[in-house]
Amino acid sequence: MCGIVGILGTHQVSPIILEALRRLEYRGYDSAGIATIHDGHLDRRRATGKLINLSDHLVHDPLPGTSGIGHTRWATHGKPTVTNAHPHRAGPVAVVHNGIIENFAELREELRGQNYGAESDTDTETVALLCQMNLDRGMSPEDAVQATLNRLDGAFALAFLFEGENDLMIAARRGSPLAIAHDGTQAFVGSDAIALAPLCDRLMYLDEGDWAVLTRDSYRIRNADGAEVTRPMVRIAETAGRVEKGGHKHWMSKEIHEQPAVLDASLSHYLADGLTEGPLSEIDLSGVRRVVMVACGTAYYACHVAKYWIEQLARIPVEIDVASEYRYREPPIEDGTLAIFVSQSGETADTLAALRYCKNQARTLAVVNVPTSSIAREADAALPILAGAEIGVASTKAFTCQLAVLACVALKAAADKNRLGPEQITAEGEALRRLPALISTALRGEHDLEALSRNLSEATDILFLGRGAMYPLALEGALKLKEISYIHAEGYASGELKHGPIALIDESVPVIVFAPSDALFGKTVSNMQEVMARGGRVVLVSDREGLAGQSEVWAKVEMPHAPDLWAPLLYAVPAQLLAYHTAIAKGTDVDQPRNLAKSVTVE
Ligand code: F6R
Repeated sequence: MCGIVGILGTHQVSPIILEALRRLEYRGYDSAGIATIHDGHLDRRRATGKLINLSDHLVHDPLPGTSGIGHTRWATHGKPTVTNAHPHRAGPVAVVHNGIIENFAELREELRGQNYGAESDTDTETVALLCQMNLDRGMSPEDAVQATLNRLDGAFALAFLFEGENDLMIAARRGSPLAIAHDGTQAFVGSDAIALAPLCDRLMYLDEGDWAVLTRDSYRIRNADGAEVTRPMVRIAETAGRVEKGGHKHWMSKEIHEQPAVLDASLSHYLADGLTEGPLSEIDLSGVRRVVMVACGTAYYACHVAKYWIEQLARIPVEIDVASEYRYREPPIEDGTLAIFVSQSGETADTLAALRYCKNQARTLAVVNVPTSSIAREADAALPILAGAEIGVASTKAFTCQLAVLACVALKAAADKNRLGPEQITAEGEALRRLPALISTALRGEHDLEALSRNLSEATDILFLGRGAMYPLALEGALKLKEISYIHAEGYASGELKHGPIALIDESVPVIVFAPSDALFGKTVSNMQEVMARGGRVVLVSDREGLAGQSEVWAKVEMPHAPDLWAPLLYAVPAQLLAYHTAIAKGTDVDQPRNLAKSVTVE
């Protein structure tokens, strides 16, 4: 979603805000803008497209001032034009916003009736106009913001600047994350720690409904009831701002290649001291009678894989759902339910809403990459996946680290339910800990996948098939491919093919089959034969045993042999590499694919 940064500084802030927006660009890249106060005057520069366009604009038309707010946009209301770009200005007020103002249409009508007409198509401009109207009625900036916030429905993180007020910035949070920081002489506002990391070493996350009034020598936070509150100071990890590509051309490539290291760290964290001594020892799953797992996109597919593990190892029934459906379906929740919410960002609006629905009805567990996120803070317990910052919009290392943590949860459930004895748990844990090395081996086959991807890039439709826990991998492979290469792709359970999708098969449709040589291999091979009998071009991704004798397939991708249960972690890698290299062959923007943004904080 959109990225926000604001600074009351001691030096010229435009270049500093631009740098912070560069770190936030993964949240949206339709347009960007900065507003500053200089000699009491409010001014702004905005540009469509990537941040480089704003940066070029600022070279030709600099924006002086030591107080400023900046924004990088993922469009919700209104096309990505300069007029719709933030900061929005109404008279003396400038505002940047992440989220959606749900009642903006009625507010807009009302404002028009009061002669406060809007220039843009955005919901955000109504916030600026409301605030201007309140100032015109004689309110102070602080009262004007409070009165404005009281009129807004929806989700937002906002930062305001005011003409004539060089030492004032107001920030507000409802539904979208926002942090503030203060070092005694400067004040900062940012969407996340990555934005603020090089500027300060500690920050405070605003809570739901909080709003903060900042000057260079003070800050005050009020909650939704107007009471003054304090929020815990959190140290920013030293590495938070140091997000670098490390010699890789794209974030996605870097993050794919980081997997052996981050997975090893994550598995060591949860398994090194054993399930009874390590971080999972405090989570007792013996009384769990049902597990509900809720997430979106790739994180949902991680839940889908984990369903197989938890049901097989612990014999606990698992219900999975996408968060946008679950939250409105409002399903009954039985006693003894453990509800697990999986999210890389920990801020996904639908997943957060689903968590809030479950709270007080079930025990809630968050599996997140950002331990300070809303989902982590609101769940009864949180398990960090320890993947490190994921910048590429297409999730890769977060997916495998989510799988790693969910695998450990499945083992813990099996142990607590006495479904597996200590020796079996140790054996499965050791098997799991072999995965980082196997992934390193798989990554060495990247060159072959690159060549294959050049062929795939000519297709207009591609199918992915898998059985058992490889079925969600087929879904994930298709999602990854379509989001960055824009090739239409679908994932199916192998056995479902003949119930409809087989009608799509002809010589032009490559069919990628994930099938390690496990107990279900023979069944998948039969489905593969059905495809080949209709001229379909099969790419078989399997181990040496599985590939042996499959001479009719169009292409083979060899994987090292993996422990059956944990093979999905390994097979995620060819799914990611095929998508990556196909996108490269097509020349698309791998890290910032069209229409997408990371951290979806709106419905
Ligand atoms: C796909 C992808 C998305 C996210 C989804 C949930 O590559 O990244 O499908 O998985 O938007 O995001 P989080 O995990 O932040 O809740």
